[in-house]
Amino acid sequence: MKRVFSGVQPTGNIHLGNYLGALRQFVELQEEYQCLYCIVDLHAITVPQDPKELRKHILDVAALYLAVGVDPKKSIVFVQSDVPGHSELGWILTCSSYTGELSRMTQFKAKSHNKASAPAGLFTYPVLMAADILLYDTDVVPVGTDQKQHIELCRDLAIRVNNTRKKTFVVPEGRYLKAGARIMSLDDPSKKMSKSAENIHSRISLLDEPSKIKKSIMKATTDSEGIIRFDKEEKPGLSNLINIYSALSDKTVDDIVAMYEGKGYGDFKKDLVEITVDALAPIKERFDEIRSSQELIDILEDGAEKANAIAEKTMARVKDNFGLGLK
Ligand code: AMP
Ligand code: TRP
Repeated sequence: MKRVFSGVQPTGNIHLGNYLGALRQFVELQEEYQCLYCIVDLHAITVPQDPKELRKHILDVAALYLAVGVDPKKSIVFVQSDVPGHSELGWILTCSSYTGELSRMTQFKAKSHNKASAPAGLFTYPVLMAADILLYDTDVVPVGTDQKQHIELCRDLAIRVNNTRKKTFVVPEGRYLKAGARIMSLDDPSKKMSKSAENIHSRISLLDEPSKIKKSIMKATTDSEGIIRFDKEEKPGLSNLINIYSALSDKTVDDIVAMYEGKGYGDFKKDLVEITVDALAPIKERFDEIRSSQELIDILEDGAEKANAIAEKTMARVKDNFGLGLK
């Protein structure tokens, strides 16, 4: 079976964009691939984190993976720092990377922009991400298009090592999401929905209460035309809402436009509230159950054990090909 690896950072506010863009895809891939889904806590500390909050967010994201339908009987769910191979391979790959290529990463440029100095971890973060992927001989990496440059770097590093040493790594492929899966901010449809935006009504978090969902959708930016049609250029706010409606209801954009012919934004938004609340209610219910159970810890411990077993084999091969250690 071919192998899939992906990771989500343990920060709060996992939102509808994360769900439609990434988590939901994770669930589908389980049928066809051996999947490893990681909570990448070592990535999270590239920016300051409160230790108590970080632990809480690790368990929140793990419980959300399971609540949306990641099945621990089929997939390996684990916490990155529970597998030492990530840091170990991260260092080895750092020695095969160039500062030039790392300075070209747009995410680093964006995050360090206007800062007098940036943590070195923010600079080498894409190398750690490459280590995450190569550690498991991964074939396919499902991620948003925002990660494309990091996946390309990972492939370059794998090919570079394979060409200068014995063949050591499987060269992975990115699997990018469809354009429609990019969910925009509700208050400003020119930006993507994000975990860190200040306005809580810019996003719908997966654990939002129905009253909050209603408020955010009813407040969402639209336009004054009053006609329900899909036009990303002229009507980006409404088009984003139609996209969300379509993704949560399995109706096509054309179906939706036809359904609301002659109706106003109020009717459309009211229905979207209902669809969203209905889609998220079972997730929240399962989340509450799983989050407070011992089972969650057992699943993560079991996942770490299985991940370690694969990682140790890769690390033995890597050390051998680099001549590190005694054997
Ligand atoms: P992040 O929120 O940056 O940790 O991303 C976690 C995963 O969700 C990645 O695969 C992202 O590409 C995806 N993602 C984040 N924000 C959005 C969005 N607004 N729409 C679609 N996918 C997203
Ligand atoms: N960098 C990714 C993000 O911010 C998270 C991530 C870390 C990841 N390691 C990974 C994704 C390995 C896929 C594979 O979304």
